Amino acid sequence: MKVLFINGPNLNLLGQRQPEIYGTSTLADIETAVRNQAEESVEIEFRQSNDEGTLVTWVQEALGQVDVVIINAAGYTHTSVALRDAIAATNVPVIEIHLSNIHGREEFRQHSLIAPVCLGQICGFGTASYTLGLEAALTLKRPN
Ligand code: DQA
Repeated sequence: MKVLFINGPNLNLLGQRQPEIYGTSTLADIETAVRNQAEESVEIEFRQSNDEGTLVTWVQEALGQVDVVIINAAGYTHTSVALRDAIAATNVPVIEIHLSNIHGREEFRQHSLIAPVCLGQICGFGTASYTLGLEAALTLKRPN
């Protein structure tokens, strides 16, 4: 099984970026936590870009290449019709994650443009949102 983590803008600044909201772990720390949790049979790919078009391209390319995409689209969550269209167009299973609880924050963050085309959303658990996302991805392959 192959799982692709896609991280959007400003997540490269984690660790120093508003630690009271996003915690003190860097994106590299989060990647390590995810890799430590993954069983050997699960191949993890972890990417970050500040560029909307790059995120769109990665979603497009995921088709047929990965089993599940787990995405923290960061600021593009709330603005990107193009990212939503890419998810809808490719039909790759996508799980939306956020470190913070976007529903308890500013009004503009409470709406996710990508939520309706994702399988589900995990938010508010800090680094654990990533490992819970992986856990959710694994349930897709396990029989009930
Ligand atoms: C975020 C929440 C977004 O509103 C914000 O723009 C981010 C990070 C999160 O992980 O909590 O950059 O996606």
